[in-house]
Amino acid sequence: MSDVKHVPAPPGTEEYQPVFAGKVMAELETIFTRYPNRQAALLPALWIAQQERGWISDRTMAEVGEVLGLTPAYVKGVVTFYTMYHQHPVGRNFVQVCTTSPCNLCGAEEVVKALLKETGAGELGATSPDGKWTVIEVECLGACGFATPIMVNEDFIESVTPEKVAEIVRKYK
Ligand code: FES
Repeated sequence: MSDVKHVPAPPGTEEYQPVFAGKVMAELETIFTRYPNRQAALLPALWIAQQERGWISDRTMAEVGEVLGLTPAYVKGVVTFYTMYHQHPVGRNFVQVCTTSPCNLCGAEEVVKALLKETGAGELGATSPDGKWTVIEVECLGACGFATPIMVNEDFIESVTPEKVAEIVRKYK
């Protein structure tokens, strides 16, 4: 029997496993056929990467750049522009709350407070200790007449009030 013990690599030094290999690369190749060139498929490529990894690290941004022929800086510029892309791990339920002025005037801040309390996330951008929830504020979600709108993952929920928050959170537990 060997005495050699497996020593885990220090955090951050593990060997990087590419996202775009095998079936995932085949999926991306199919997407390329719908665009005039590879670079134009940046948004769906990032979306696939995020679905595979849960978030998009700097190393994954670099990989996306390599596959599409873009610089890491260009890819990062796009990732940081859109709130739908995560630059760090988030909870299983990712909640976006519109707090732009019209919704704010209708009580969006109170909805945010209720969400942070009910989910256990505690503060904006943090993940609840059970790993289930991350809540962030976002700009106008395009439903200004239905304050306060929120998104839970890909579900759009209008007219949220602090009183409705507990029931919404229960639904996603
Ligand atoms: S300002 Fe909140 S949805 Fe437009």
